[in-house]
Parts: sequence; structure tokens; C-alpha cells
Amino acid sequence: MSGGGGGESASGLSARGSRIAGGARGLLDKGFDMYIADPFDRERNPQGILNLGTSENKLCFDLIQERLTRPDMNYVEPDLLQYSDTQGIKSFREEIAKFLTEYARASKALNPEHIIVMSGCCAVFATLSTVLCDPGDGYLIPTPYYGGINSKTQLYGEIQPVHVPLFSEVTDEESHPFQLRVEKLEAALQRAKEQGIRVRALILINPHNPLGDIYPAQLLKDCLEFAHRYELHVIMDEIYMLSVYEDITFTSVLSLDCLPDPERTHFMWGFSKDFGMSGIRVGVLYTRSHEIRKAVNQLAVFHGCPGPVQYVLSQFLSDRDWLDNVFLPTNKKRLKEAQNILVDGLSEIGIPVLKSSGGLYVWADFRKFLKSQTFEAEMELWWKLLHEKLLISPGKAFYCSEPGWFRLVFSDSADKMYLCIQRLEQMLHTEITEPAANKTSVEDELPNSEHDPIATHGNTPIDEVSHLKKIVVY
Ligand SMILES: Cc1ncc(COP(=O)(O)O)c(C=O)c1O
Repeated sequence: MSGGGGGESASGLSARGSRIAGGARGLLDKGFDMYIADPFDRERNPQGILNLGTSENKLCFDLIQERLTRPDMNYVEPDLLQYSDTQGIKSFREEIAKFLTEYARASKALNPEHIIVMSGCCAVFATLSTVLCDPGDGYLIPTPYYGGINSKTQLYGEIQPVHVPLFSEVTDEESHPFQLRVEKLEAALQRAKEQGIRVRALILINPHNPLGDIYPAQLLKDCLEFAHRYELHVIMDEIYMLSVYEDITFTSVLSLDCLPDPERTHFMWGFSKDFGMSGIRVGVLYTRSHEIRKAVNQLAVFHGCPGPVQYVLSQFLSDRDWLDNVFLPTNKKRLKEAQNILVDGLSEIGIPVLKSSGGLYVWADFRKFLKSQTFEAEMELWWKLLHEKLLISPGKAFYCSEPGWFRLVFSDSADKMYLCIQRLEQMLHTEITEPAANKTSVEDELPNSEHDPIATHGNTPIDEVSHLKKIVVY
């Protein structure tokens, strides 16, 4: 499509344009593209692709629709249709500040002047990383993680992830699979230094995507101390803050009374997940640093939210009676029920999952179903599932260090969860009865399978499905 090097390419793009145009699409995007070309629909396309790959909450559309169509939402005034504060309309920022103070159990009231409203957390990642880092700089991020962060930080800012690999193996009774420890951050930072990468930030997702677990308060504090020691910024992505369905305490970074480095600690949240409104495109940055806000604000002008949307969402957040008594309890209950249906179904067909308490998905162990413990085999399985019209997300899309893990989103109707299990069961039974030697290679068909040298341990025999029943990791 384009030439490398500097100057203008044959396509007329600049070197920067060529770099952006040539940026690899993530696996999550590729799967989504295939889904929208052939989406499952109960009546119109029952053989279409069933999507348990995209992290969206479809469980409470009835409630959201009812609330967003009440008369108090139907309001237009000149200000809402005119240019406004690029940081976000003041009254909306005030409402967000009150909302986050209460629901993140902030240690003291949030200052609306410290908030910047943008068109989604993707925009927050893109702008914030661009102003915190220079091209070639790195940020530490534990793997697996929501892989969409890569493109958001690379396309504008040309910043690179420095992976902190976590593994499923449990070393003692106290630890659990994929557990983050400060020593692992230290080791990754050291490795980056040796490679000449200047690390500027640490990104943490809490509740975690894709693991679905929650950082204990002490670990969070230890990570903040670590970042302070090395003068790293901390970007806390808490976009799933209210999607916690177990009775467990979630500690938001906003709730800590004494941050080691408040000026370098940044928080983000948005409407996409907790309120099932990924199409409305609204995300929020909270940062105490005046200089950082000034810089982000310059870019926020390209990522603003429409005035009427800000108005509607102000009304939405201010209705505490509805949030507390209708939406939040119902959403929590439906998330838990949906999670149970999927986890039980997976367990019945011999697929263990990691114990989770938040988010919209489970992290499932398909290792026994890989032909070999390689990412090639993982991609082959992913591709075969897609042929069986089931979209789930492979661990490779989350930069997982071990092949064989997949993320399955459960926040959709029960019949789709049952159909997912049915399609999986059909596929895995076929896999087991069909001798591996008879299978044709799908390598040529693999969409950008990016051969990975990690973990090539030869073939693992596939156990009988019945032997795998009821296994739950952790
Ligand atoms: C952890 C995480 N952060 C950010 C985003 C993007 O959020 P938004 O829709 O607000 O751009 C996602 C979307 O999947 C996500 O999972």
C-alpha cells in the first residue's frame, strides 16, 4: 500500500500516514469484522455467527431504553447545539464528579475541574499516552490485557507496551493464576532498561479485562508505591468499576486517601460497560495535574462529545433513585445469572474457567483442546470455532503468554449462552473423535496468525470430555 522511509509514498500518504494505515488490526477487530458480515439473528439468520467476543453488556437494554425515553431527556437549548467547553460541559462534569465521588467511594469529593470528558476511553488512552510519553517510550502492562490499548497508544503517540507476563501456574496456596506481583513489575522494568526502552507509565485495568478479577487494595497500593519509586505515571482503567457481580469489595484508586504520587496517578471510566452504552461514546479522565490536563485538553478538541449527549447523561447520572433501586441491583443480578449459565455450561463440556468477580466475561482454559501447546494451534482452534459460527476471543488478542486461553463474554441473553455451549460441544466432540492426522492444515487461512515462537512443547493428548467435567481453576 505504501512505501517505507520518509517522504510521500506512492499512495500519496506521508510516512506518518503510511505507518498509521499499515498498523496491524488487532485480532478482536478481525473477529468483529467477520461477525458483522454474518451476524446471528434468531429469526433472520439463525446460522449466523454468534458473538461472545465483543465486551458489551446487553442485559439491561430494557431498563436503559425506558430511562432514556422519559420526558426529562427530551430537551434542547441553544447552548447544547453550540461550541462548548472542550473539557466537557461544566454541569456534566459536576454531575460526573458527584457520581464518581459516591460510586467509587472517593476519599474526598472529586473536583469537576479535574475531569475531562471525551468520546470514549479509547480517546482517553490515545490522548493521555501521547502527552505522557514520547515516541519509542514504553508503558508497563501486565499480560494478558485488553489488546485494544496497543493501537490507541501507538497510532498517535508511537508508544510501545512493555509486557509484564503473568502465568496460570500456581506456586503456593496463597497465590492464584495470573497473579500480579510487584517483583514482576520490577523485573519487566529492568528488562526494558536493558533493551534501552524508557518506561514512562504503568497501566492497570481494574476490574481486569480479560481475567475478570479485582486487585486487592494492598496490591494496588504496592503498585502505586512501585510506580512512585521509579517516577512512573499510573493510568488506572476502571471502566468496569460497577460491573462487579460478586459480593466483594472493589477498591477504586479514587478511594485511597493517601496516594504516593497524586500528580502522576490518572483515572479513567466510561459509559460503555457499566451502563451498556458503548455506542454513545463517552469516557472520562480524572487527573489532578494541571499541566497534563492542559495538554490533554488541546487534543480533546478532536474527541469531544455532543452537547445533547452530555445533557442526557447528566440527567441519567443524577437519577440516584433509579440507579440505586432499579438499574444497579438489576444489572448485578442479571450479570451473576448470566455468568452462572455460561460457567455451568462450560463446566458441563469440560472447560475450566478462572474464578472471576467483575467484568462481562470469563477467562476459559481450552489448553486441553489444542493440538499442540502453541499459539498456532490456538489460532487454528479460534478459526475452527469461527467456521462453526462461534466468535470468542483468543488469548493471543490479549498478549497472553500461554496459548490456549480464550475470553467469552456472558452479558447477553440466556439462549445465546446455551447456543454457544451447544456449538462448542459439537465442535469439541468432533475434534475428539476426528484423528488429528486427518485434519487439513488451516494455516493458509489463518488471518495474520503471526507465528509466535513462545511455547512449542509438542503435542498434548486431548482428554475425553467426560474426564474434564466440573474443573474450575483457582
Ligand atoms: C479495559 C477497557 N478499557 C477501555 C475500553 C474502551 O472503552 P470505550 O468504549 O469507552 O472507548 C475497553 C473496551 O472494550 C476496555 O475493555
